[in-house]
Amino acid sequence: MCGIIGYIGKPPVIETILDGLARLEYRGYDSSGLAVLNGQGLYVCKRVGKLQGLREALKGHAFDGHIAVGHNRWATHGSPSEINAHPHTDCSGSLAIVHNGIVENYAELKARLQAQGHQFRSETDTEVIAHLVEEQAKRAPLAEAFRSALKELRGSYAVVLLSTSEPQHLYGARSSSPLIVGLGKGEAFFASDVPAILARTRRVIYLNDHEMVELSSAGAKITTLDGRAVTRRSSLVSWDLASAQKEGFAHFMLKEIHEQPAAAEQTLFNRLAQDAGQLAFDRRTSGFLSRLGAHERLVIIACGTAYHAGLVGEYMLEEFAKIPVVVDLASEFRYRGPMLDRDTTVLAITQSGETADTLAGIRLAKTQGAKVLAICNVMGSSIAREADAVLYTHAGPEIAVASTKAYTSQLTALYLLTLHLAKVRATLEPARWQELAQGLQRLPTLLQRALATERPIKAIARRYAAARDFYYLGRRYNFPSALEGALKLKEICPRIHAEGYAAGEMKHGPISLIRKGWPVVFIATDSPIYEKVISNVEEIRARKGECLVIASEGNKAVARHAEALITVPKTEELFSPAVVAVPLQLLAYHIARLNKCDIDQPPNLAKSVTVE
Ligand code: G6P
Repeated sequence: MCGIIGYIGKPPVIETILDGLARLEYRGYDSSGLAVLNGQGLYVCKRVGKLQGLREALKGHAFDGHIAVGHNRWATHGSPSEINAHPHTDCSGSLAIVHNGIVENYAELKARLQAQGHQFRSETDTEVIAHLVEEQAKRAPLAEAFRSALKELRGSYAVVLLSTSEPQHLYGARSSSPLIVGLGKGEAFFASDVPAILARTRRVIYLNDHEMVELSSAGAKITTLDGRAVTRRSSLVSWDLASAQKEGFAHFMLKEIHEQPAAAEQTLFNRLAQDAGQLAFDRRTSGFLSRLGAHERLVIIACGTAYHAGLVGEYMLEEFAKIPVVVDLASEFRYRGPMLDRDTTVLAITQSGETADTLAGIRLAKTQGAKVLAICNVMGSSIAREADAVLYTHAGPEIAVASTKAYTSQLTALYLLTLHLAKVRATLEPARWQELAQGLQRLPTLLQRALATERPIKAIARRYAAARDFYYLGRRYNFPSALEGALKLKEICPRIHAEGYAAGEMKHGPISLIRKGWPVVFIATDSPIYEKVISNVEEIRARKGECLVIASEGNKAVARHAEALITVPKTEELFSPAVVAVPLQLLAYHIARLNKCDIDQPPNLAKSVTVE
């Protein structure tokens, strides 16, 4: 949700800012803008639409400078327009602000500032920050003016300030929205996320909430909002630039689908021993997990795709580790007054580690004495830092808005957790435990083989590309797969209506909609209730729906129940959601491609949802 970049160093800064914004485009793309100090003052340029518009507007500009800020917007307050795009400036046009988050008390602040004579141009909440700093700067140096302004804000913010009065400094601060500092040789950055700066540096400082930074090309001075100095060591991120580039694939989504075997392998690496006899975790996680075995229940919270991973987690944790599990959408959990206690562990699943609702959920859990474990992909993210322990997925940066490799890596982490809890709670016979551990070890190979479905899927996608309604159905472990398959299609194909259901629920309403030719994607891989799933397939066919069935390899009988068939490698039922995720993602991808959809940046969505 909105991408921020700030840079101080050497010319050409405009290219540096545009490059950073290009790598942050997944966070918002309804408008973009930059502000640069070019020797004569502050030059601001903004454009509605994708970053390309801004790039073109800046073509041929001869000026440049050494300090600038840039922003990709995902609109919250005020429609996408040039006026509402960031950066926002004060009345004098000498300071510029870029912001990610929501200033909840902006109306009240705006009224006060207007009464003091400030002229507002936009409908945004952000503009109040520029005028607040301008007002405070009448009485105090810029750093203090910025600090006082921040203290007045309610809500969430990652904000960067550039002013003509201090051409050697950028100021930045965060509260519940992500902001990192990048330190290079004679240059420094602010950014919403690591990929924005990977081309220039891997040395970063993760900021905490309510910290403010004075950034110069020589480094960062961090203080709290109360003015206390903070000492924070920088860390070296392990991601490399290649992992944040398309590397020959048409879209990040396709590249990330193909990266799934490696992502699962990395997530298992060093945790499941070669002979599949042992599990090992880092010290902090091990300590936490050893106590977790005695806990009485787990509450999983997550949003979007991560929520679907959580639903699969519920099935496996209850079946194999015999621990009661509740799964909640984080956006509901935080407002429904959940009953938590010291015997509850809240498990937050999140790719970005920054999703506002999930973050608020873990904060609520902590206030009620619950322990918090996170399954998270981004080191140094807010959730990774605030959780008591983290089971990292090692999927590398996920750029496409539609989550793919993060999902299968989250499932992989859940398999590890299930096996761990099954062991410490002694809920499985050793031989059965070993069998499952060996099955998990084969998962990367199965994901690789599942990628071979791409060819038949391309043909199936051509057949169904013109359809405007789809159902996705499955049962047990693959009910969440049905939800996830439908979510992939609706995320990237805005003109298509897709819904996932538990196949057994169709008769309670949705089946009434089935018409001739309506495509229904059935997940009918091997399971104890496979025959019941096939009965559900026949119920659809009896109403002339067209069934695309995903079944296990070697199932010869299934073909006569399907208008189209995809087979995936045979596996234990609990691993099947990871394996079937691959053809479901590929189906959505190829249907979207045929419909000429904007696959990596679908309208109205953003990858990292840092506002409520
Ligand atoms: C957004 C993204 C989804 C993601 C969800 C949760 O909606 O587009 O791909 O699943 O947020 O994000 P998280 O980073 O918490 O996993």
